[in-house]
Order: sequence, then structure tokens, then C-alpha cells
Amino acid sequence: MDKQVSTLKKSYEPSKEVKKHSIVKDYEKVYLESINNRENFWAGEAKKLDWYRKWDKVLDDSKHPFYEWFTGGKINIIHNALDRHQKNATRNKLAIIWEGEPGDVRTFSYHALNREVSKFANILRSMGAKPGEVITIYMPQIPEIIIAMLACAKIGAIHSVVYGGFSVEALAERIEDANSRILITADGGFRRGKATSLKNIANEAMKRSPTIEVCITVKRTGEECYMENDRDFWYHDLMSMPLACTNCYTEHTDAEDPLFILYTSGTTGKPKGLVHTHGGYSVYTASTFRYVFDIKPEDRFWCAADPGWITGHSYMVYGPLINGATIMMYEGAPNHPYPNRWWQMIEKYGINILYTSPTAIRGLMRFGSSWADRHNLSSLRLLGSVGEPINPEAWKWYYEVIGKGRCPIMDTWWQTETGGHMITPLPSMTLKPGSAAKPFFGIEAAVVDDAGKEVKAGEEGTLVIKAPWPGMARTILGDPDRYVEKYWEKYSKQKWYLAGDSARKDEDGYYWIIGRIDDVIKVSGYRLGSAEIESALVSHPAVTEAAAIGLPDELRGNIIHATVILRQGFEPGDKLAEDLKSHVEKEIGPIARPSFLVFAESLPKTRSGKIMRRVLKARALGQETGDLSTLEE
Ligand code: WT7
Repeated sequence: MDKQVSTLKKSYEPSKEVKKHSIVKDYEKVYLESINNRENFWAGEAKKLDWYRKWDKVLDDSKHPFYEWFTGGKINIIHNALDRHQKNATRNKLAIIWEGEPGDVRTFSYHALNREVSKFANILRSMGAKPGEVITIYMPQIPEIIIAMLACAKIGAIHSVVYGGFSVEALAERIEDANSRILITADGGFRRGKATSLKNIANEAMKRSPTIEVCITVKRTGEECYMENDRDFWYHDLMSMPLACTNCYTEHTDAEDPLFILYTSGTTGKPKGLVHTHGGYSVYTASTFRYVFDIKPEDRFWCAADPGWITGHSYMVYGPLINGATIMMYEGAPNHPYPNRWWQMIEKYGINILYTSPTAIRGLMRFGSSWADRHNLSSLRLLGSVGEPINPEAWKWYYEVIGKGRCPIMDTWWQTETGGHMITPLPSMTLKPGSAAKPFFGIEAAVVDDAGKEVKAGEEGTLVIKAPWPGMARTILGDPDRYVEKYWEKYSKQKWYLAGDSARKDEDGYYWIIGRIDDVIKVSGYRLGSAEIESALVSHPAVTEAAAIGLPDELRGNIIHATVILRQGFEPGDKLAEDLKSHVEKEIGPIARPSFLVFAESLPKTRSGKIMRRVLKARALGQETGDLSTLEE
């Protein structure tokens, strides 16, 4: 693989500076301790938080796979993310720096954020919101989405954030599944210079799913939208009423009380509403955030995800706020008005850590390095990647052009289901580009075959997690059977969690995530990851993005079908198609040579940036494409 990027080394050592600053210097030692006495380790992490009442038991595993953590304990995540910071210097610190796409800026100190959250929590209570009810949030990337989430948690209600890029049916389906009575939305947001109209979509969704009794709308764009008497309220009207006072009691929730549900992107049929809790999730996001990003009080952290995804929940909102960090939030598109928008903001706000996805990196890489080069990015200390395997081309660009060879890249593997990072480097570790490195503390991972036997080093297998962890989703809302079936049935004898990914572990114990099991293509009995083939294609100078799928073939079981997007200045043609096929053959082996290669202008993607191979496959086979509710644009 390394041949593709000639100057990319097999491994990268952290600089003295990075090492000196890192919280954990000896990963192996701490890891061993954490595994040998797991409950002790998590109790130690839990003690760093404030509890109303200490837990009786760290882990209750008597109802496998419905594990419970810190049972008997009372804790509210908001008490840790906001309340406790009001008593010390953190109250004066910036919690949020927000920039809108048109260039407007808003900032909130911890003190100010707490006031807003308390006010809105009082409003929600006055609307009859009760602990344990699900409140749906459908908003653009504006500070009020965070205020809304935190206000729900404060009163013990369960938030269900539906990504603002979803449309009518997806929203309606999620409202209905959660039986939500209250909806919090906005008139719209700004994206690529245009106002999106969320409220109108919400109105349509409310027609289809009649459970909503109260809809609260934040005014962002000022675009006209229909408001229904007795159902619709403007956020600013409510927030200026006397009942929106800043004195507000934080509900003393149980450790196992649900904090939020989050639906996973519908790559497989009906969305699954995964349930996360106040206790375990607080402990898990707080500690992964601290160790993986080596967070310092003076840091400004930018997770360039949307709060509507788990990455946003865990590392844009909860992990940073519990740790008293300053978070950056940006409303719009990375290339608006120009492809230097992100780099400009990193310079302007002195961002120290940037956490984003390979898709975003590739998207910006496309415009060339000069956009980044014109900005002073010297405030950056660490970089992060999440969501999909990062290909060598993107890794190199991120590392060299953005990080100037100084900033380690934390390639964090995890899932909506896991609540937080599972396999990830720490800043003090040796990095191998393309590898998510090693399991986080307390996490026992393995790569196994169908029988549950560990495969040899370097061989591909199924990724499993062998023991529970505090951040794990507790169930699927309203469908515990599906939870058991999806994640625990395959290795029920061993009681292992099935991650749904295939991976390899090398001789040094580094994990290489290959991709979803459903994206693995078997050609003549050989297993190939879509991501591997795509990575090979992208390493060709003509290709900016690619997608590979398997199509049934009588002779070989499956054959590879590739769709590629060309870089500017390259023309599609038979000659180039042959070149690209040969390039893959050269990079991986004859077995990986695509049988079909087509050129396209764009790839069907979910709004979280994952290629929808299912759609490509259906198209290639001339079948129905099925549910397209998560398709971007
Ligand atoms: C799936 C989970 C976790 C937040 C965003 C995605 C893939 C995630 C990595 C990584 C390779 C990764 C896996 C996983 N994935 N991070 N660093 N390297 N693959 O959350 O939507 O729940 O998706 O994303 O396939 O199973 P998600």
C-alpha cells in the first residue's frame, strides 16, 4: 500500500513536545491495568465526575446483554457539563465559539451557557415536559441546538436529535418511532450561501406523524414559515417570558436513566434508535475525550461534525463540556465562500485540535494545498479522524499540509452504538497511517473467524468486543430483540459484541479497520474491502473519489464494480478506465481488478458522508434503489 504514496512512512513517532504534554506516557502499562481490573479502572474514571449519590455496583452483568453500569448511582450529565463549572474559574471560560456561514459570530461563556440552558429548561418544564419523555430536535448548526440538547438532559427528558439534513419522511419516521410530543426546530440555517427551510419540512413531517403537540422554532434565517396556533411557538418569545428564569433545578437522574436516543443512518432498513445513559455515557465520553485528545485547559477544540451525529453528541457537546473545554462550532459548508474557510477559522480562533472525517479531508484536498498554505495553522497541536478508514493519500495531506508534520492524527474507530472511541491511538503512541492503533483503556477487542477463533496476525476477520464498557448503547428504543439480534446473537456463546466491521490486527497489535462486513466483497473466495479498492483508485492521480461494490458473478462469486470521480483536468475514457483497473491490480493484486469501471460526477452518500454502496449496487443491477431518505442532495 505504501507504494502509492512514496513519501509516506510506515510509522510516525510523536515529537518530544507531544510526548511531554501527553497525559498517558505509557499506554501499555495503563491498558494492562485497565483490563486486569476493569471495574476498578472505570470506578477510578467515574470518581473524576460529580455524583449526587455514589453507585452501589460498577457493573451489573446479570442480565446479559443488557448490561448496567454504576447501578444505584445518581448523576446528571448536566451537573457535570455545566452546574459544577459554575463554582470555579471555568465559569468565565468560553464554552462555545460559534461562527455562522454568513460570518456572524456568537460566543458563550460557561456562565452564559448555563443561563440559557436553565431558561430553556424552565420553558420545557412549563410545556409539561417530563423526565423520561423523548423530545425531538431538528435544527441546523446553531448554538441553540446545543442549548436544546442540554436543556432536555437537565430536566431528565431524552433528546432525539434528527440531523438537519434529513427530510420529511426521515424526520416523521423518527418522531413517530419515539412517540415524541415536543419538537424543537428552527426556521432554517445557512448552507452554501442559501437559507435552508427546516420549519417547512418540520411542518410536513408533523402532518405525517401527528404525535407532536408543541413545536418550538428558533429564528435564524428570518424566512417566512407557517406557524400554527396553539402548537407553534417562537423560541425568542418564550425565552423573553418571566417563566424563562435562570433558576432551574437539575433533575437527579439515575445513572441508568436514558440521556438520549440517536438513530443510526438508515443503511439497513428501518433506523435504529440507540439508547445512551446519563451515568456510563458521561464517564465514557469524559475519559475518552481527555486521553485521546490530551485536553488542556487552554485548548480550543473543533469537532467539525454535526451535532446530529454521535460524533457531535460525544465530542462536540458532552465530552468537551464535561472537561470544561472550549468548543468551536461552524454553521456552514467548508468551501463557502472559498475552500479556505476552515483554515481561515483555525487561524482566526487559534484552534488547537481539529477532529473531522476522511471524507471532509478528501473534499478539501481536492482544491489543492494553496488554500491551506495561505493561513497560519501553527496553533494546531493534534488532528483527529473518524467515520471511515482514512486512505494514505488523505492521511498524508492531512498530516503534511494541515498538520505541517507536527500534529499526530488520532484515527478513532467507534460507532453510534459504542458511545465513544473504542480503538484509537493516544498522542504519545507511534502512529501507522491507516491504522486506528489500539483499543482504548478497558476495551478488549479481537479479530475472529465465524467460530470465534482469533485469526492470525495480518489476517482479516470479524471485529468483536469481548467485554462491556460504560459508553455502550443499552438497547434499541422499543426493540430490545433487534438489539440482541444485531449485536449479540452471532457470538452469543462467548457473550461478545459484534461490531459489524471486519479488521486485521498486525504483529504489533495495531488494528486496521477494513469496513463494514456488508461491504466486504468476496472474489473467487478472497475477501476484499471496498475501502481497500477505493483507496487504491484514489491513489491514482486522476481520481478524487471512488466507490467499489461487489456484483454477483457465476464464475467468481462476486466481481468488482467501481465508480470513480475524476479530478479536475481529467477526461473519462476507455483508455483511462483500463489504466485505473490496472492500477488497482498493481496496487492490491489481480484479484482486486475491477471488472467494471464507470465514471460519475458524484457518489450517492449519506449525510454523514458514507458512500451508499447499496444504491450503487441496485443501480448496477437495474433494481429498485429502495429507501433514499439518508441520501445527500
Ligand atoms: C462505522 C460506525 C463513530 C462516529 C462516526 C461513525 C466506521 C468509524 C472509523 C475509523 C474506520 C471507521 C466503521 C463503524 N468507522 N470510525 N476510524 N476507521 N472505520 O459512526 O455512523 O455509527 O458508523 O463507521 O465501519 O462500524 P457510525
